[in-house]
Amino acid sequence: MVQFNGPHGKVTVAYLRQGGLNPPGEPPSESFAGKTVAITGCASGIGYQAALRIAALKPKKLILGARTTEKGEGAKRDILAKVPSLDSSAIQVVPVEYTSFPSVRQFAETVKRTTPALDCVLLSAGLALPTRETTADGWPTTFQVNVLAPALLAVALLPLLRATPGSVLEFVNSISYCNVASADVAPLLADPARGALAYFSGRERWTAQRAYYEAKLLLMFVLDGLVEDNGPAAAGPTILACCPGQCKTNLYREFPAAVRWFMAAFNAVIARTAEQGSRTLVTGLLRGQEAHGRMWVNDHYDDWSPGISEDEWKALQGRVWSEVKAVLRQYKGDLNT
Ligand SMILES: NC(=O)c1ccc[n+]([C@@H]2O[C@H](COP(=O)([O-])OP(=O)(O)OC[C@H]3O[C@@H](n4cnc5c(N)ncnc54)[C@H](OP(=O)(O)O)[C@@H]3O)[C@@H](O)[C@H]2O)c1
Repeated sequence: MVQFNGPHGKVTVAYLRQGGLNPPGEPPSESFAGKTVAITGCASGIGYQAALRIAALKPKKLILGARTTEKGEGAKRDILAKVPSLDSSAIQVVPVEYTSFPSVRQFAETVKRTTPALDCVLLSAGLALPTRETTADGWPTTFQVNVLAPALLAVALLPLLRATPGSVLEFVNSISYCNVASADVAPLLADPARGALAYFSGRERWTAQRAYYEAKLLLMFVLDGLVEDNGPAAAGPTILACCPGQCKTNLYREFPAAVRWFMAAFNAVIARTAEQGSRTLVTGLLRGQEAHGRMWVNDHYDDWSPGISEDEWKALQGRVWSEVKAVLRQYKGDLNT
């Protein structure tokens, strides 16, 4: 459960700048020795940097989830060139396209069929879009890629994670979920009969920024739901979220040139490199059971608190999680197997 007693309100530029000036610590050497690690979003950005780092920390097997086999094979070639000590047979490429639930299911099925034990899952794929596009499954793309697809992947991989002692499932999320304020959720809370997912994904309220922040809040609700349903970390796996901090990546690639120019200039002053941000993803996987249900960011837990109250959080989390589970059941009938 996130902590509500920290600084809150809109995440400030000063906070982001502090993050840029103080990059996270590095993971210890050989910390993935003997482990099998699956990573999505590993063809570029923070996910690629995390995959590269883990490759150098002696994993038994690295499963690279990329949108296409070509992109995954490209990442594999690149990683093997930079980590020549890793045998090419230790890297498996499995395509996964988050805008398609069947593709997400297929990824999970392939991993389960080909991997007897799964120690770490790092779900790093995510995006920000300037316009409200929808997927073939009928959801806004920002919403499906940042919330529903990682949720489906998590429930589909849980049985294998449960069967692997000491396993970890980590969502790459963003502390920007704290930018969602009480006023943003007031109409939903005022109407208990209103569908939460329809509210958050609806066309009427859609702005690029709101869609991104709210998707990240909903992913925190998914984290809470999984932790509650799955029980204590000792029952396995440890489930956590992390935030890499503001990083210089291509996250705004779909935005108009003026926005990309602005973000590049902003990031040049404020942000970390993708490699620095990726350290948080990697060290999050090594926190052990204390991390269960928490947000790992800047080498701390929850260094920024939600923009909604604890009561609002509780009221919304239950509604969102039960609706998310109803969606997931359409694609994975029994969520416990
Ligand atoms: N950059 C930041 O400042 C920042 C801050 C906080 C949190 N984050 C989070 O960190 C994560 C990684 O972002 P990033 O900054 O590294 O951005 P990025 O460079 O754009 O990388 C995003 C990754 O997600 C993959 N991806 C995008 N859409 C996908 C889809 N439909 N199906 C499967 N994979 C998809 C991309 O694959 P392709 O390259 O093949 O499209 C790419 O590997 C995101 O969840 C983001 O919200 C970023």
